[in-house]
Amino acid sequence: MSLRMDRSYYVTTPIYYISGNPHIGHAYTTVVADVLARTARTSGPAFFLTGTDEHGQKVANAAAEHGKTPQAWCDELVPRWQSLFAAYHVEYDDFIRTTQPRHETKVQRVFERLRESGDVYLGKYEGWYCVADETFWLESKLVNGKCPTCGREVQWISEDDWFFRLSKYRDRLLEHFKAHPQWLRPQSVYNEMMAILEEGLDDFSISRTNFDWGIPIPESSGHAGVIYVWFDALLNYITAIGWSEDDARFRSLWPASVQLIGKEIARFHTIIWPAVLWALGEAAPELVFAHGWITVDGQKMGKSMGNAVDPFALAERFGADSLRYFLLREAPFGSDFSYSEEKIAQRHNSDLGNDFGNLARRSLSMLQKYNDGIVPQVAAAESPFASRFAELPRRVREKLLDLRFREALEEAWELVTALNRRIDDEKPWALAKAGDPASTAQLHALLYDLCEGLRWLAMLLHPVMPERTAALWAQLGLTTGIDADWTTLRWGGLAAGTQTHVGDALFPRIELAEAHG
Ligand code: MSP
Repeated sequence: MSLRMDRSYYVTTPIYYISGNPHIGHAYTTVVADVLARTARTSGPAFFLTGTDEHGQKVANAAAEHGKTPQAWCDELVPRWQSLFAAYHVEYDDFIRTTQPRHETKVQRVFERLRESGDVYLGKYEGWYCVADETFWLESKLVNGKCPTCGREVQWISEDDWFFRLSKYRDRLLEHFKAHPQWLRPQSVYNEMMAILEEGLDDFSISRTNFDWGIPIPESSGHAGVIYVWFDALLNYITAIGWSEDDARFRSLWPASVQLIGKEIARFHTIIWPAVLWALGEAAPELVFAHGWITVDGQKMGKSMGNAVDPFALAERFGADSLRYFLLREAPFGSDFSYSEEKIAQRHNSDLGNDFGNLARRSLSMLQKYNDGIVPQVAAAESPFASRFAELPRRVREKLLDLRFREALEEAWELVTALNRRIDDEKPWALAKAGDPASTAQLHALLYDLCEGLRWLAMLLHPVMPERTAALWAQLGLTTGIDADWTTLRWGGLAAGTQTHVGDALFPRIELAEAHG
């Protein structure tokens, strides 16, 4: 995938339902977006949006249970979500809350615009509704009369509602899906959405009148009620960046480069969302990627399932960077994968501790011992690694931006493995002991390559493990440039004379028995 150069890279996550406690599944989408934004930012402007989805009956009910107004309840919960992202080293550019005036006024404007154009009209809604998922369901989709997603009771709703003319966009959606088979990944979700489109689409209700925690339907419509939370929420992706046709910032960011979602919300993001955008005269996002679930005993992790894992405790125990690595390395992006502390500990101890962390420690200790920690002067361009790994940065970058995170990490690990192998093969301790000029020259060339390899790894792995790679950067005696453009990476960029330091282990071992705890 090539990065567009004319505009900024724009990546979004879903906005999070505010109620309840965040879990590691919530951190997942946001960590992935952070990795993409950090990678894209090494070569140009990038913008990363996340936020909170604060309206709807579920929030109103939860606030009432706590004896609070919905607004006060949301204000209280937002910092918890923001601190979750901070705990995972996520650096977003903007955090939108759907209760902010910048969002609410624009949503009302969208409503007015679509009412004027006829894409929004008044009709009667009757059907089943799941409050927990804020989703309408056709009778035929219910499982034993219950919500097919979460298994909870559904309610029968009958009211006059405003409708969005989704049916009108079915043919265009089908054409779009056929003309851009890669716009929705992975293939399994694409196929699922195509099946829905082929079945046909009904218009869908975008207003509610049986409760009032939402964005009011504009008074000019002559009707009361609030805007349906999903219609409100989807619009965050454009309201946050200042939507209006002639807004320069909006134009420089839209359409989004990548919209990340969990697969259970694909219907909203790949059928309803493009249609709403088209109704507004805007383009569909370039790519929607629907990732898989973190599961426990084969079930989606989630608060309602009672199997949610506290993400704060987890980050404390393993280190946020190790978890970021685990989330990206454990399964191909798009597939489900099961969560267990043993698996995290295994990745931490093996890939990170033994392979990468040990490489750093061994290399810097040897440099300390054999050259006072000073990077030696060598003809680095003549190193066999100069040509062998010349393409590595480009390949890692391409895979990261193509959301093939596991492959990108495997690619980077080839350098880790090759460096470790050189220590084993060339036996620097023997070279040092021999002490003759040829052995010393070989020792210096090896020590240089080890440090240069570590410098490359710190840069290439920085988007995935921003904090641990920064620690390595400091151990290498470097100050700035860890997030510099990868196309400038040339074997030999590490300056001779740089004073390195042996620091603490990057990934101290975690005992499995302890991880059970
Ligand atoms: N509020 C809606 C999104 C509106 S976007 C216009 C919502 N919120 S959510 O809090 O329930 O989910 C937010 C994200 O977290 C989704 O992408 C969802 O897939 C992800 N995850 C929640 N549990 C998850 C797992 N167990 N595993 C992986 N991701 C999970 O949906």
